[in-house]
Amino acid sequence: MNSIYKSNINKKYKFKNFIEGKSNKFVKTLIFQIAENLDKKYNPLFIYGPTGVGKTHLLNAIGNKIISKNNNIKVVYVNSERFVQYMVMALKNNKIDNFKKYYRSVNVLLLDDIQFFANKKRSQEEFFHTFNSLLEDKQQIILTSDKHPKALKGLKNKLISRFECGLTMFIKPPDLKTRIKIIIRKTKKNNIILSDKTAEFIAKYIKTNVREIEGALNRIIAKSNFKKSKITINFVKNVLKDIIFKDNKLITIKKIQKTIAKYYKIKINDMISKCKIKSITIPRQIAMIVAKKLTNYSLSKIGNSFGGRDHTTVLYACKKIKKLCRENYSLEEDLNKIIKKLSS
Ligand SMILES: Nc1ncnc2c1ncn2[C@@H]1O[C@H](COP(=O)(O)OP(=O)(O)OP(=O)(O)O)[C@@H](O)[C@H]1O
Ligand SMILES: [Mg+2]
Repeated sequence: MNSIYKSNINKKYKFKNFIEGKSNKFVKTLIFQIAENLDKKYNPLFIYGPTGVGKTHLLNAIGNKIISKNNNIKVVYVNSERFVQYMVMALKNNKIDNFKKYYRSVNVLLLDDIQFFANKKRSQEEFFHTFNSLLEDKQQIILTSDKHPKALKGLKNKLISRFECGLTMFIKPPDLKTRIKIIIRKTKKNNIILSDKTAEFIAKYIKTNVREIEGALNRIIAKSNFKKSKITINFVKNVLKDIIFKDNKLITIKKIQKTIAKYYKIKINDMISKCKIKSITIPRQIAMIVAKKLTNYSLSKIGNSFGGRDHTTVLYACKKIKKLCRENYSLEEDLNKIIKKLSS
């Protein structure tokens, strides 16, 4: 069958191999409930988050779960880039009616990476009608994107407002504990038992996403098989020296302060000054939380680098920025952009 008209769900992504932690527990539980009940309480469900945090995994996991419970339900997974390609192909082959009929007849549409619709007017229009038709028929739609709907550029407002009429959820990069859990589970699957200390060491250096963790583990496992050596901290240090070197040497508190001062168009000295104006304190507090996330420095060392402040100021800053991010998606976007910039 033509892949346009296939469910396209990847069988390897299941709930049982999705490792739960603080960063993803809420989203995972909710998606799991949707799979169990399919009561369309949250329709559409819009999940956004940075790269490699498990959006595609969860989208396929729900597809697999629904199908395993009920074979008669038509569940379709499609990446937006593919949706556009399929549509163009259908237009070219005079098969657009089949295309429309197929996508408007599904019971659960799982559309990945909606950001690819940016500036593709015709595809957006077609998707808009598919979307409305599915919602009218009370079919479930789950969408993913790298950004919050409001931050998506090149998308029609009418589409964005449709995305927001259900529930929008953010999936965060994994925190340290979750990263350790992922590392231990993924190595166990390869029949390798890591010491807690070695797992923690890897987790401290591979911070941004799960795809990166998988890449690092593949490197470590391949090298250890080849060299027939045990995976110790020293062994890991050697295999991952490029990453560790980058983190140690390049991401300094000074660099974080400089990058964030430039981002917010303030002076670098404002990072260490006593100034209490909001336009200065927020970037300063963002710099503190970023330093905590991206370096291995202690809270005291971080506080000290911000004009001799102490560790409680850093803790307060982290708490405050986390709270503001929950209330204000654009601040969260800023924070992700800054982390991406510093980590790339
Ligand atoms: N919590 C998790 N437990 C187990 N594996 C995970 C988890 N999160 C992500 N992964 C794995 O990490 C890899 C990347 O995940 P995935 O492709 O779902 O990320 P994504 O958020 O869709 O990224 P992108 O925005 O780049 O498409 C996959 O192999 C996936 O199985
Ligand atoms: Mg993906």
